[in-house]
Amino acid sequence: MKSTKDISIVASHLRAGGLVAFPTETVYGLGGDARDDNAVAAIYAAKGRPQFNPLIVHVESFERAKEFGVFNEIAIKLAESFWPGPLTLVVPRAEGCQISLLASAGLDSLAIRVPAHPLAQELLREFGGPLVAPSANPSGQISPTSAQHVIVGLDGKIDLVLDGGQCSVGLESTIVSCLGERPIILRHGGLVRADIEAALGIEILSGNDDKAALTAPGQLTSHYAPNALMRLNAQSLQAGEALLGFGDVENLQAQVSLNLSPLGNVQEAAANLFSMMRQLDEMGVQKIAVSPIPNQGLGEAINDRLKRAAAPRDRG
Ligand code: TXA
Ligand code: MG
Repeated sequence: MKSTKDISIVASHLRAGGLVAFPTETVYGLGGDARDDNAVAAIYAAKGRPQFNPLIVHVESFERAKEFGVFNEIAIKLAESFWPGPLTLVVPRAEGCQISLLASAGLDSLAIRVPAHPLAQELLREFGGPLVAPSANPSGQISPTSAQHVIVGLDGKIDLVLDGGQCSVGLESTIVSCLGERPIILRHGGLVRADIEAALGIEILSGNDDKAALTAPGQLTSHYAPNALMRLNAQSLQAGEALLGFGDVENLQAQVSLNLSPLGNVQEAAANLFSMMRQLDEMGVQKIAVSPIPNQGLGEAINDRLKRAAAPRDRG
């Protein structure tokens, strides 16, 4: 992995669809173009996450953030008080939002932040678009607070790290959900609860509090599930089923048929997964047969997501 301080090299690498680790004041992020499903799939692959956790979108200003998310009164107050800074807001996706569905793991909401680190700011402006970035560490390991940490964790997995020295905060951003009537802290981090409460003039609940569970049922974990019933590991088709294929499915003739990756590449399949599930829903399909996906690399995360989409659910 190459370490650089040259913003224009980093920005052009990102424009070509590549991945770059970059500093924020909290921790280093593993960045890619937030609008590019393939770049997002490559991020999951580099981190080796067995699941598609939704990622945080980074933009250079609140103005820019409003292009992608819908900000209610509380969200506006928080953004105006603490951005740029170690705060991430979860808000509904704006209509026509260009952010990859894979980045938000198929959710209708978006986690978004405006980092304060001068190099992150410079990079976002030079790149000219939103960057999606989880912490730049292999899944399950500690978040990196120096370029050296990134190199130790991800060498061989990504090409470039933008070296901005030590992160000043050193803790991940505080995540506040602004989806319900009351804001809720989903993750404690660099911005403390007391400061948020002082800015809002109200008590703020944390996902760990019992009260939060009572005031916001289901808010924390509303994963997208298609309306259609899904049958996994399908080797043949039953009457009325649409096909969500993988690899060579020429022997299967469905009226409606999409292919996650005709060549059988799991990273390409990951990039297509959420948008194809939505497409099938939008077409009004009732039943979906899904081809077997090998449980290797990102295949594990795809199968995890498919299993949850296929599980019996309460439709109340
Ligand atoms: O400080 C940070 O936040 C760093 C820097 C790089 O920005 N990023 C970071 O990302 O910690 P990551 O991927 O390690 O953690 C993102 C967290 C996850 O716990 C995820 O569940 C949550 O954000 N998240 C993302 N989108 C969400 C959404 N729509 N609703 C609820 N939680 C969301
Ligand atoms: Mg992390």
